[in-house]
Amino acid sequence: MKKIIIAIDGHAGCGKSTTAKAVARKMNYIYIDTGAMYRATTYYILENKIDIQDITEVKKALGEISLRFAINDVTGNIEIYLNGESAESKIRTMEITSKVSDVASIPEVRHFLVDQQQKMGTEKGIVMDGRDIGTVVFPNAELKVFMTSDVEVRAKRRQIELESKGEQVNFEDVLEDLKNRDHLDSTRKEGPLKVAQDARIVDTTNTTIEEQIDIIYQLAKEVAEAQ
Ligand code: DC
Repeated sequence: MKKIIIAIDGHAGCGKSTTAKAVARKMNYIYIDTGAMYRATTYYILENKIDIQDITEVKKALGEISLRFAINDVTGNIEIYLNGESAESKIRTMEITSKVSDVASIPEVRHFLVDQQQKMGTEKGIVMDGRDIGTVVFPNAELKVFMTSDVEVRAKRRQIELESKGEQVNFEDVLEDLKNRDHLDSTRKEGPLKVAQDARIVDTTNTTIEEQIDIIYQLAKEVAEAQ
């Protein structure tokens, strides 16, 4: 079977990463979480107190950032490494989450990351999730999926996930953050979140994780077999 590129885009918090990771495992493909790349970049910018209004400072910071995905020997998971160190435990906090859309709206940041994402896809056999994968990063991807679901359902799931990691969060705050990110992600000038013309829409409001994995896996097999 020929290897394909599977591009998964969609709203924040509808289970894209979990689904994409599982589909990659079933297809024996590489999984790339582009949200982690935007989050790690945001972490570096905040840690180094970079003024995001100052584009010269931002460009200099980008020149100091090296990102790669690798297996963490301790956890056994594929994690994002920022300048040689796993950044996984630092990038999923509410603080990073609330700032990431602002950083992701800077064109220089998008060019810096899109370029690396495109290089990761040259061999195909990848599942990549994000906001602009089917529209900007791989407009010729063989399979494009757009995931969405009701925002309150997403907020409840996100609250449970954060609490399971020990972060106490208020439902209203999580809901506000998701609405705000959806708005910023959809309205930015560069690489906005939008449904690619040829994307299959998968609504996960009433599906379990297992069901959504199966829907996308079946689509992936069909498309790969037809190549
Ligand atoms: O998928 P996530 O929630 O981890 O993504 C974090 C943020 O990164 C999201 O709010 C918008 C941004 N992002 C983006 O602009 N483009 C991508 N391809 C992936 C993420």
